[in-house]
Amino acid sequence: MHAWLCENPIGVEALAWKELPTPDPKAGEVRVAIRAASLNFPDLLIVQNKYQMKPPLPFVPGSEYAGVVEAVGDGVAHVKVGDAVAAFGGTGGFGTHAVVNAALVMPLPAGFPFDDASAFVLTYATTHHALIDRAALKAGETVLVLGAAGGVGTAAIQIAKAVGARVIAAASSDEKCALCRELGADATINYSSGNIRDEIKNLTGGKGPDVVYDPVGGDLAEPVFRSIAWRGRYLVVGFAQGGIPALPWNLALLKGASIVGVFWGEFARREPKANAKALAELAQWYAQGKVKPVIDSRLPMEQLPRAFERMGTRQVRGKLVMTNG
Ligand SMILES: NC(=O)c1ccc[n+]([C@@H]2O[C@H](COP(=O)([O-])OP(=O)(O)OC[C@H]3O[C@@H](n4cnc5c(N)ncnc54)[C@H](OP(=O)(O)O)[C@@H]3O)[C@@H](O)[C@H]2O)c1
Repeated sequence: MHAWLCENPIGVEALAWKELPTPDPKAGEVRVAIRAASLNFPDLLIVQNKYQMKPPLPFVPGSEYAGVVEAVGDGVAHVKVGDAVAAFGGTGGFGTHAVVNAALVMPLPAGFPFDDASAFVLTYATTHHALIDRAALKAGETVLVLGAAGGVGTAAIQIAKAVGARVIAAASSDEKCALCRELGADATINYSSGNIRDEIKNLTGGKGPDVVYDPVGGDLAEPVFRSIAWRGRYLVVGFAQGGIPALPWNLALLKGASIVGVFWGEFARREPKANAKALAELAQWYAQGKVKPVIDSRLPMEQLPRAFERMGTRQVRGKLVMTNG
């Protein structure tokens, strides 16, 4: 097998495409021949040693992938050799093969292609947990999505529309805003130009959004929080801009508003039944055409550094998928 090995987490430049012995699965493990692996922002942070999870070295990055079961260890009953599966392993995806805990492997329903499957679980499950579980978003409410043309952002547009909410999508270019409108956003804001507070005011008749979905953080957060509606819920999803915002607490008091943390990985670990229910609903929505990963492009697995470069420079629209074969 081949894989991108991280021996020194100082950045993408230290990753090396190496030939490695193909491991056999132990009891409770599965070996997957990887067909597709998607990029998520945490994959970039993890190779820079900036992510909360720090795997022992060396490791193969790549949190999420899909492929075919090639071997199973003792005690594995829910998948068998030859099955098409998706896996959320946290690491291991950027290679030709991975051995993973069977509990993290899901059989794919018929009609779920590998590229979509590799780009589904983290983005959509995080966003379902955020909008539906944490924010209790209702039909008719207005959601403002920041970084709306990115991976979790595009999922947020689709899930908010699936529950009947009004979506204002905000992104850094007119091209990204155009993509958001194609995905169903009712209105857009290009936050590289203009005053985001004025635009939010105009688009909400002065009321502000009921829910803000924020995977960007940095200097956007405070002006946006100042614009939130009475009883608004501000979802803290991530900090792609790098800076972690600090807010004056009186703003929450003045709006009767909530700052709501979203940590899907921990939710899935602590509340597996609720997570499985959400994933089942998402699979149903996928089958009904209500949600579908937006694939920016597919690149050969060997071109991972190019894909990371595009993600780090805000060029990706939706998801990048690395493929084998
Ligand atoms: N809480 C959770 O459980 C959870 C789960 C998954 C992901 N996340 C987090 O969500 C965030 C987004 O993840 P993603 O996979 O959707 O990433 P992504 O596809 O790269 O999207 C991130 C968006 O952030 C914006 N951005 C602003 N400044 C940026 C910068 N300096 N570098 C890169 N992007 C920048 C970009 O949009 P514009 O150019 O339009 O500004 C970009 O589209 C990350 O912080 C990730 O860690 C959290």
